[in-house]
Amino acid sequence: METARTVSAVRRFWAGKEEVTLRHPLLGDCAGMLECVNSLVLEKAYIARQTMKTWEDQEADLLELLKQEKEKACTGLMVDIGGRLAGWAGIGYSGKTNNRVGMLGVVWLIKEARGRGIAEKLLRALICETRRVLRVDTLRLETFACNLPAIELYKRIGFMEVPRKSGTARKTAKHYGKQLPRIEMQLFLS
Ligand SMILES: CC(C)(COP(=O)(O)OP(=O)(O)OC[C@H]1O[C@@H](n2cnc3c(N)ncnc32)[C@H](O)[C@@H]1OP(=O)(O)O)[C@@H](O)C(=O)NCCC(=O)NCCS
Repeated sequence: METARTVSAVRRFWAGKEEVTLRHPLLGDCAGMLECVNSLVLEKAYIARQTMKTWEDQEADLLELLKQEKEKACTGLMVDIGGRLAGWAGIGYSGKTNNRVGMLGVVWLIKEARGRGIAEKLLRALICETRRVLRVDTLRLETFACNLPAIELYKRIGFMEVPRKSGTARKTAKHYGKQLPRIEMQLFLS
């Protein structure tokens, strides 16, 4: 079985005194992912998951993710800082696999890893992987309109807000009981 030590790094760089490795996910990532996702739930981060995850939930999600990566239906990168899992971002096809539009499903870092430029490097590396693995020419994402750190990050990468079609209601989604506005952003890959 591949382990975090043997899987090849997509990118390595230094963030201060710590070496950061960006790599594809492994079966052995279940415990690390579970700890990270549950820390995001506890801080009420603006991610889709809003209830604590169990080992079974995480194992099922990871197996599905590994299957989809193998089938080239999605690609994702883990952030490993000194052997500890600290972040994740993934892109899959939006709808059918021949529609040329990729959807950035999620990007997150644990609190201690933020504000150090790691997320920007993660997204740039993930976009390179997307160009290599998926046949898409456009990337889209949806985020809560109040999630300014995420929106600033996406703008730095080149994403632009998709204007709402006239007459259509603004999309919203529930965040811990409150219905909050969402925005859509997109990036054309040339
Ligand atoms: C969204 C999220 C991933 C952004 O992470 P981030 O750490 O803010 O993003 P970056 O890695 O680009 O870092 C940006 C900061 O690092 C600084 N930075 C950039 N490059 C740097 C470098 N080489 N060295 C040191 N600092 C650097 C920037 O100046 C910026 O600091 P500022 O915010 O004080 O201006 C993070 O906030 C997060 O995980 N949030 C919770 C989950 C979430 O909301 N996800 C999005 C769902 S849509």
